[in-house]
Amino acid sequence: MSDSIKNKIEKISKALEEHNYNYYNLSNPTISDFEFDKLLDELIALEKDYPQYLLPDSPSQRVGGTITKEFKNVKHKYPMLSLGNTYNEEELRDFDERIKKAGISEFEYVCELKYDGVSISLTYTDGILTQAVTRGDGEKGDDITANVKTIGSIPLKLRGKHYPAEFEIRGEIFMPKTEFLRINDELRKQLIEEGYDEEEIFEKQLKNPRNATSGTLKQQDSKAVAERKLDCYLYSVLGENLPFASHYDSLVEAKKWGFKVSADMEKFSSVDGVIKYLSKWDKKRHDLNVETDGVVIKVNSYEQQKFLGFTAKSPRWAIAYKFKAARVSTILESISYQVGRTGAITPVANLKPVQLAGTTVKRASLHNADIIEKLDVRIGDTVFVEKGGEIIPKIISVDESKRDLFSDANKPTKYITHCPECNSELIRNEGEANHYCPNELGCPPQVKGKMEHFVSRRAMDIDSLGSETIAQLYDAGLIKTIADIYELKKDDLLKIDRMAEKSANNLLAGVEASKNVPFERVLFALGIRHIGETTAKKLAYFYKNIESLKNATLEQLLEVGDIGERTAQTIIDYFSDKRILEILIKLKKAGLQFELSDEQLTNTSEKLKDLSFVVSGVFSKFSRDEIKKTIEQNGGKNVGSISGKTNFVLAGENMGPEKLKKAEKLGVKIISEEEFIKMLS
Ligand code: IVH
Repeated sequence: MSDSIKNKIEKISKALEEHNYNYYNLSNPTISDFEFDKLLDELIALEKDYPQYLLPDSPSQRVGGTITKEFKNVKHKYPMLSLGNTYNEEELRDFDERIKKAGISEFEYVCELKYDGVSISLTYTDGILTQAVTRGDGEKGDDITANVKTIGSIPLKLRGKHYPAEFEIRGEIFMPKTEFLRINDELRKQLIEEGYDEEEIFEKQLKNPRNATSGTLKQQDSKAVAERKLDCYLYSVLGENLPFASHYDSLVEAKKWGFKVSADMEKFSSVDGVIKYLSKWDKKRHDLNVETDGVVIKVNSYEQQKFLGFTAKSPRWAIAYKFKAARVSTILESISYQVGRTGAITPVANLKPVQLAGTTVKRASLHNADIIEKLDVRIGDTVFVEKGGEIIPKIISVDESKRDLFSDANKPTKYITHCPECNSELIRNEGEANHYCPNELGCPPQVKGKMEHFVSRRAMDIDSLGSETIAQLYDAGLIKTIADIYELKKDDLLKIDRMAEKSANNLLAGVEASKNVPFERVLFALGIRHIGETTAKKLAYFYKNIESLKNATLEQLLEVGDIGERTAQTIIDYFSDKRILEILIKLKKAGLQFELSDEQLTNTSEKLKDLSFVVSGVFSKFSRDEIKKTIEQNGGKNVGSISGKTNFVLAGENMGPEKLKKAEKLGVKIISEEEFIKMLS
């Protein structure tokens, strides 16, 4: 019996690894994601029931969930060296000469792209991945095996039989450009919903794929690594008595064992071939889904490599050629100043359109006044534009030789002193880089932005009032503050372009319905700086109504968990503004919820303090949303996915089988609706 279970586990594991290989290494999947997940679930269930058959190379390891509190620092068997750099053809020809002078006349070069990620050394013992270590200082690195096992293109078990019993293979783990953009895009949407402005979003986004890779690999929970689709190219095999005589052959073999080896590697019999390769890839690299910053040139034969040997830091048989960062020069035609929802001013360079790294660049960020001053960039200047991390173009410097000293236009740039939208005098707070327009309640983009936030889904949820309609109503003078939204009349609405009877009715119904939105969301909707959804909820439950929040002192506000000095001060400032108080009075008159409901008041407790829940499935007594709300009202936290840190899974009918298995695997307690109700009584 147990033999047949063992066989079954082996069979499913083998099939899964094969599908994995087809998907990640050959980009040629032969089953659907759904079928793959079903098979994986079956395996996880079997391994749970028969833990004696759970192997370290099981494909179930790829879903992650292992927590590494501290990565073990381990010594490399072979130190991880770096490469010498060259930056032009001449330096590369010098390298070629040095090899010839050392006494080698006939030899081949292998060229590979230099991938910009995090280098990794993988150890395979009897065909099984046993250890994955980062470069560290070259001598010792961090053991990040659990995290690396989640990377789909890295084999956990090798294919075929002809691999050495023990060897290391090194390569570069990277985040594909598309994955980098996907994550940033999602993050951006989330931050916008939470009410952050452009400058803050820019600060919080992933800076470039390499940083993102290194940050991901440092995660303690391998589940978090599995969620970000990292990839890996392998480029060097190390070990004793390897069954090949050259680097090129080693990679051809490694590919057969299941490793992902770049198809862009090429062999050349002279440096001239290498130079052609460089110029080809200088442009073509931008079409790849991986960041590259150069080419690595290696002498092919192992024997010749051995003969050439090493300097203290790097091999004499290999060198890197670094591409010049994609850079062009163009004319700075003008600088425009954008005003964000919070009043932050962002200067933007408008450039004469130019091609750069595969895209047309028309604009570049100038960030703030200090940067403009440091660059001494002036309208009409010829400027050099680079793509930092290949994603966001920026101005690097000015070509001063092209500056026409006698032209009138060529005067030092004076940063604006007044808001381009409302002409208020700008302010700049001590220690902050940005200028702000202080006219929160009168500056059109700020007011419109605040209104958009106010009506957004997680705030007042008036979805019949889109940004275009807001702009029309605002421009027509029908709404000047958020309070005016509740004064809108049907006749007024019908005066607006393209507004038919039906849309007007919808809009008014949406406005009416928003009067039932609970206090914590109203508080979030007000758009007080630094008050996101979570903080709004905390404040609402702590102070229970707007009156007591308004009367709270700085010291009292600081007593609310997670509220810092900056946020506390913003709240004080907000409620000391007379115009704001007027708006709040109007909103209150209109019937908005400015206190917790009786139900919310009677239902609050600290019974679930610090406990986290995943709620899944269908329940008989309450809806899922009601249960989630109850968790929060009692001090608990709702989380989206199960991890080692989750305290309870609250399971209803029809809960997904993967979730159930995952909870069991991680030892997270699963409770029913009845047990949950008991916890509260
Ligand atoms: S070979 C002795 N090949 O570049 C060093 N390295 O300074 C042998 N890299 O940290 C390295 N792509 O992480 C080699 N195709 C490639 C590479 C590559 C990227 C990285 C590697 C190393 C650095 C070299």
